Amino acid sequence: MWFNRTHPRQAPGLSGLKLLGHLLSDRRDLLAILQQYQQDYGDLLRFSLGPKTVYVAGHPEMAEQILIRDLETFGSLSQQAKPVGLALILGKSLLQSYGEDWKRQRQMLQSLFHKRRVEIMTTHMIAAGEQLLQRWHSRPGEVIDVLEEMVSVALDIVCRTLFSVDVTTHLDTLRTVLPILIEHAATSLKNPLLPPLNWPTPRNRRFKQALQTLDDMIYRLIRQRQMGSESTKDLLSHLLQTQDENGEPLSQQSIRDQVATLLGVGHETTATAMTWLWYALDQHPLVLQRVQQELATVLAGRLPTLEDLPQLIYTRQVVDEVLRHYPAVPLVARLVLRDTEINGYPILAGSTVFVSFYHIHHHPDFWSQPEQFWPERFAATEASVKHRYAYLPFGIGPRICLGNHFALLEMLILLAQIVPRYSLKLMPNHLVKREITITMRPRHGLPMRLCPC
Ligand code: HEM
Repeated sequence: MWFNRTHPRQAPGLSGLKLLGHLLSDRRDLLAILQQYQQDYGDLLRFSLGPKTVYVAGHPEMAEQILIRDLETFGSLSQQAKPVGLALILGKSLLQSYGEDWKRQRQMLQSLFHKRRVEIMTTHMIAAGEQLLQRWHSRPGEVIDVLEEMVSVALDIVCRTLFSVDVTTHLDTLRTVLPILIEHAATSLKNPLLPPLNWPTPRNRRFKQALQTLDDMIYRLIRQRQMGSESTKDLLSHLLQTQDENGEPLSQQSIRDQVATLLGVGHETTATAMTWLWYALDQHPLVLQRVQQELATVLAGRLPTLEDLPQLIYTRQVVDEVLRHYPAVPLVARLVLRDTEINGYPILAGSTVFVSFYHIHHHPDFWSQPEQFWPERFAATEASVKHRYAYLPFGIGPRICLGNHFALLEMLILLAQIVPRYSLKLMPNHLVKREITITMRPRHGLPMRLCPC
């Protein structure tokens, strides 16, 4: 193990068993370890395991170089021969494609996520929120796993808005298979020693079975829609009507890949962000009080509407601060396609670079008291954002999140529905630890008591 100061041409780094220990340990907080290294050694860190070299970049200017300026050099991870991460689940969807193929897919889906079009989905979001509250109605005082509840409501919202289906019939299936799939995808990114998928290990068998169950569900959804007569204007019908570059309808596989992607990323990200939101509100009673006051003034006990949202100024600052302090997507990865430099350090083709939004969001050069949860920093008068790329919860550049309006709308609507009716109190003995799967989640969920207001 070494932290390299003796090779001035190389970025400071760590290698060997100690690194493997960090990566595979269930007990260590990888983000905190990286943050400590960043403070001690700088904004670009290098990690080597065998022939594999990985960099973690934690500065806004590096994010700009990697995600906006030098797209010819920093490509998609799916450009490497062996599929890893989400590519194992999502196939060749928007998230995993690159080049012309990515451009065509992005154009195809973009129109569905225009701000106006997303705003029309508000009623579905409210309906899903009401269904959640109805479930909670019979459980006052009970302890719930907030992560599980947020996963359920976020899945419900994605299914209602994008596929026009009631999730209740699929919820148990999804709640069983998705964690298995996500865990395996995340491990494949962290552990280069994982046996190939065609080896019949128990882990591989479990993963393949879960994938088959998800596929069966999605193909059933597609068939039902193809056989149905009613005209529905949602993602599924859009995909079924879309033609490829040769004027042919999209293949079933290609529709399946897009559906799996939007189902997966559309719920997992928002659910984890919402989970951290309840945690933050419980930890900061004065913030909760201000949100409650604002909602009482603006809504006066009624359900939120789209028109109310611009008036929820403080509530929106709280959402922004949650996405800064607890970024649901803490890192994004790029494959280095040709030799290059970052910050004067050589970076070889074939290595992987992670841009760490987490470290950028907590960088003391760009945020005053970055570890403090302080929503007011997002007030228009607060000049604490010192770099235009110091805040990027939805990424930046051409691959910026397609669902950012969707996610912000969903978070505000759910907050406005739930806060006036319940506060959630963390169980006193529960130690909250974060883990990075694909998103940053609280490990072992978030048990909280449901307290009616
Ligand atoms: C709080 C919630 C969310 C967060 C923090 C988030 C974050 C992100 C980030 C950081 C990226 C960029 C990945 C990269 O550069 O490699 C991304 C991409 C993407 N997001 Fe989100 N996301 C959220 C919600 C959603 C929702 C609700 C949807 C869809 C319903 C969605 C769909 C997508 C898609 C399709 C991409 C890929 C875009 C492309 O590669 O062109 N996201 N998201």
